[in-house]
Amino acid sequence: MTLNGKQILLIVSGGIAAYKAAVLVRRLKDAGASVVPVLTRGGAQFITPLTLSALAENPVYEDLFSLKDEAEMGHIRLAREADLILVAPASADLIAKMAHGLTDDLASTTLLAANGPVAIAPSMNPVMWANPATQANVATLMQRGIQVWGPADGDMACGEIGTGRFEEPEDLVARTLAFFAPKPLAGKRALVTSGPTHEPIDPVRVMANRSSGQQGQAIASALAAAGAEVTLVTGPVNLPQPPGMTVVPVQTADQMLAAAQAALPADIAVFAAAVADWKPKTTATEKLKKVGGQDELSMSFVKNPDILATIAQADHRPALVVGFAAETENVVANAQGKLARKNADWIVANDVSGGAVFGEQTNTVTLVSAQEAEAWPTLTKDQVAERLVQKIVESLP
Ligand code: C5P
Repeated sequence: MTLNGKQILLIVSGGIAAYKAAVLVRRLKDAGASVVPVLTRGGAQFITPLTLSALAENPVYEDLFSLKDEAEMGHIRLAREADLILVAPASADLIAKMAHGLTDDLASTTLLAANGPVAIAPSMNPVMWANPATQANVATLMQRGIQVWGPADGDMACGEIGTGRFEEPEDLVARTLAFFAPKPLAGKRALVTSGPTHEPIDPVRVMANRSSGQQGQAIASALAAAGAEVTLVTGPVNLPQPPGMTVVPVQTADQMLAAAQAALPADIAVFAAAVADWKPKTTATEKLKKVGGQDELSMSFVKNPDILATIAQADHRPALVVGFAAETENVVANAQGKLARKNADWIVANDVSGGAVFGEQTNTVTLVSAQEAEAWPTLTKDQVAERLVQKIVESLP
């Protein structure tokens, strides 16, 4: 997938992140897009028109009342010729102007004259972002169908930490690619479970496993990129929340089952979570203490619900149910047994006999159905996700 033949009108407004617009122009061009920059007065305080123009290999438009800019390319044409208008960074001020239809410069006038797709990548101090005025303005823009890309969490140039960071240029290019990608799963609903579960032993201890959630999140993102409406039910993970989907964080298997059931009906369900098979029979209400002379501790466990099997046998069974299985021997035979027992359509089977898969960047899997077993080469988890989604697209009516 490339951006070949796509024209992007890149509106750069005021904010320290405007310096990253230079990298964004480069990356968009690397992906094949042609980029026409528009710079606001505030934006020009942080990055020069010459930088943007040189990188875009296009003139930069700045002035609504400039005879030259209007003669070359009026604001109406600027708005209409773009396949996407991307406002990056989008300042609180420009967002407010967009929400209220104000037009006192070239950027805001072009945005009001636009009748095609618009995306904004906000960037501002976390308190400005959280301000109800900004939140109301952003909600208004979303209601009007404007895409909101970010902001991300983390350290800010102003020294504060919070939500308000400009999305990295690479992430914005990924979002632009996803925006233009074909949407074969448009209108389909997908449920993905991901990550480990944490089963409480006492108020401070849990029984957990090493699942990182990377494979599950990659699948959820690939489904969303293909146009599906995705609900990701995730156990506790150390990953940023993926954009473009409903994320339901849970702790225990019981909570994961309830959240998965609440996400039904769905057309596609992928169960990538490493669910604890057992949970402590009782959860101590106080922290378990060491007792003098005690050298052993016994605990009783009871079975957790099987989320996959429950959903695959439910009244509203999704049309396609995909499970995962980590096996150390007889990978295909065991996966086929699991498929039948759990009423799944496919099992993505991992051979984990050679060592850990959890937390690794790559995965070697066999896609097992009742009829066949397809061994895939070692791929990154993103590639596994893309290939699986490709298979899902082919299999659905
Ligand atoms: O643990 P097991 O090998 O049985 O897991 C196979 C599949 O079943 C996986 O897709 C996993 O997410 C799912 N599973 C589940 N609920 C459980 C156990 C496993 O959904 N309690």
